[in-house]
Amino acid sequence: MLNINKIRNHFPSLEIKNSRGEKIIYLDGPGGTQVPNSVINAISNYYKTSNSNTHGSFITSNRTDKIMDETRENLSIFLGAQNKNSISIGHNMTTLSFSLVRAFSKIFKKNDEIIVTQLDHEANRGPWMSLKNYGIKINEIKLLKSGKLDYKDFESKINDKTRLVALGMSSNALGTVNDFKKIGNILKNHKSFFLLDAVHYAPHFLIDVKDINCDFLLCSSYKFYGPHLGFLYAKPGILDNLNTDRLIVQDQISPYRIETGTLNHAACAGASEAVKFIANFGKGENFRIKLKNAYKNIGKHEHSLASMLFNEINGLNNFKTVGLNFDSKQRAPTISIIHKKKDPKYVCNKLSEFNICAWDGHFYAKRAIECMGLEKKGGVTRLGISIYNTKDEIERTIKALSSI
Ligand SMILES: Cc1ncc(COP(=O)(O)O)c(C=O)c1O
Repeated sequence: MLNINKIRNHFPSLEIKNSRGEKIIYLDGPGGTQVPNSVINAISNYYKTSNSNTHGSFITSNRTDKIMDETRENLSIFLGAQNKNSISIGHNMTTLSFSLVRAFSKIFKKNDEIIVTQLDHEANRGPWMSLKNYGIKINEIKLLKSGKLDYKDFESKINDKTRLVALGMSSNALGTVNDFKKIGNILKNHKSFFLLDAVHYAPHFLIDVKDINCDFLLCSSYKFYGPHLGFLYAKPGILDNLNTDRLIVQDQISPYRIETGTLNHAACAGASEAVKFIANFGKGENFRIKLKNAYKNIGKHEHSLASMLFNEINGLNNFKTVGLNFDSKQRAPTISIIHKKKDPKYVCNKLSEFNICAWDGHFYAKRAIECMGLEKKGGVTRLGISIYNTKDEIERTIKALSSI
């Protein structure tokens, strides 16, 4: 069992209070989690002790090289990847997607096909859908009103011309966890690239890229207690065969092949520390096993708070939830709700009066919100559970909601 009060001591921003002395409640984790002291210190220590560019002969440059190596190593263990050379660093997930799509545009041919979903964040749709400009046919997997993807629809759309399937592991709008293993198994019989967006999945569940057998996986560390930084996993051998946009003077091989310019070394030190922060909540003889155990503990805590919040909200007169219930453990602790009469912006404004942070709208998962028929109503109010949330905070939130 996790000791949440002890965990909360790691996060200085949990101490923020409003003018009435009410402590802040962060239910905005799906938009970015708070950052623990160890990560803040790693970022600031970088500037104090190691600030430099890479590959120089002097001390700070050597330290930067070491930090960059460790970051790739830790992120590769975090994803269950083959080695550190399968991890490329970028600005954020969206920018890495655009870099990848420029490379795909040079190898995909007219009349090739790709598959995206109606459920995904636009960062895992827009870049790939822009391949339409090259004569590539775009297929969309349908979103069912339950909040699940229509897997039959997927099976009807995959064919010999499919070159890319881009799938989110979990929805940042509805909390659905997609059956990426099922899709991966089907893709074993096809030549298509299998690309996963892990941004909403990574804070809540352990990832194992080797087990999933994906070709690419995109992630962002600010959703799992780290700084604003994106990273890409590419299965060994694949990136080296892509014609990425890059300067002739830079390293031409994986993982550097898709990286451009000087990276945010301080943020890399922070992302590396964020992975260690998560691993601290687990036991085991090595880093990966610790992570595995930590996610089990984190998952238990988050699932229990989220199901409590979900059930309580469904007992309120004015609110209802959108999306799947919490019967399955394969459900991210992200709950979208709608008020009978008031729009989501109004609800979030009211919650903020109680010092509760929540987002309203479509959160860039615009297509999903449209498909659920909620676009014209201003989308939904989204409440996300993170490691630092408590039962007491859920009770305060229910009390606040029941007054709206
Ligand atoms: C599921 C999902 N995918 C992709 C993104 C985009 O990530 P980034 O901000 O790193 O570009 C987000 C951001 O909210 C997200 O929630």
